[in-house]
Amino acid sequence: MSFKINDCVTWVGKIDWELRKFHGEELSTHRGSSYNSFLVRGNNKTALIDTVWNPFAGEFIENLKKEIDLEEIDYIIANHAESDHSGALPELLREIPDTPVYCTRAGVKSLSGHYHEDWNFKPVKTGDKLELGGKELIFIEAKLLHWPDSMFCYLTEDAILFPNDAFGQHYASELMYNDLVDQGELYDEAIKYYANILTPFSKLVASKIKEILELNLPVKMICPSHGVIWRQDPLQIVNKYAEWADAYQEDHVTIIYDTMWDGTRRTAEAIAAGIKDVNDSINIKLYNAARSDNNDIITEIFKSKAMIVGSPTINKGILHSIAALLEVVKGLSFQEKKGAAFGCYGWSGESVKLLNGMLEEAGFKLINEEGLRLLWNPDQEALKSAKDYGSEIGTALV
Ligand code: FEO
Repeated sequence: MSFKINDCVTWVGKIDWELRKFHGEELSTHRGSSYNSFLVRGNNKTALIDTVWNPFAGEFIENLKKEIDLEEIDYIIANHAESDHSGALPELLREIPDTPVYCTRAGVKSLSGHYHEDWNFKPVKTGDKLELGGKELIFIEAKLLHWPDSMFCYLTEDAILFPNDAFGQHYASELMYNDLVDQGELYDEAIKYYANILTPFSKLVASKIKEILELNLPVKMICPSHGVIWRQDPLQIVNKYAEWADAYQEDHVTIIYDTMWDGTRRTAEAIAAGIKDVNDSINIKLYNAARSDNNDIITEIFKSKAMIVGSPTINKGILHSIAALLEVVKGLSFQEKKGAAFGCYGWSGESVKLLNGMLEEAGFKLINEEGLRLLWNPDQEALKSAKDYGSEIGTALV
């Protein structure tokens, strides 16, 4: 399949309807994804921007040959070396071995590290241009958005930004454009993508957006490397990124727990009731981490003012679903969020202290330094103390 975006730009990527996990098993992709590759024809020269993930390399080359004689591709642009975009390069460059590959200096290292091939690399930096005849591609380095090698390029005359991963979504759709798809689905996937992939780089996102807006370039379309193309009000996603990059939070609190015999679950629900008693407008959501998708929970934490986390004590530690989730949370470096811990225990009771330490290590400011420890299965009096603890949390979040 190929898809004409305008007279000179054709989408030649792959829609992956089956994808349910990305980055190995790390990131859930409930609605599939796409690997967007673009063929850009100027009056004299033709460039191919990015390719697709390795498993689709053969299909990609076959489809590309239906669109163009491969020998007519003058330049290959590798905006990013991660294999979901570079995976078809080895097969493509076996067919057209001397074609120059334009990427950043870090891109040369990453692509060499992945494929160990002596390709005809042409390293570029911000402001470098490639003349296609009647229009040019301008390169913009985007270091650490989200890899050291990441790069955007901008097509003059057509005013199209190709920002690779930035502004993308793991969202398969044959409709191709932002204005044609379900807006709720699109928003959910765009914010999940930001929360789970870009959060640690928020300061760089903010400065890159400022840099791009200061160039005062017209932007008619934004063509990311995953998901749909932003053509209707394309800057809406840039504005959303500016908002999300600025210690984003809504009037929202997420309570996450795991439980063995329901004591910690009942405590979580009592805490929620206590929050609601004093703060009935805040959106309270509860998740059993062992029964929920980690990346969906991360999106809820991203939207939250606070994360309240609970685990019973087991073998002097915490349950592994909570440990795994908090490892991800730590890496994401959320800004300006509060936290609190709770958990039931029978004898040693280390879980709450451990959770407090993990919350602080992840940059969360504790609402209560002690946390809430409940001995054995909570009775009505213990649940009352959990409700009071919830009210203290709810008051701190007003
Ligand atoms: Fe879509 Fe960083 O790869």
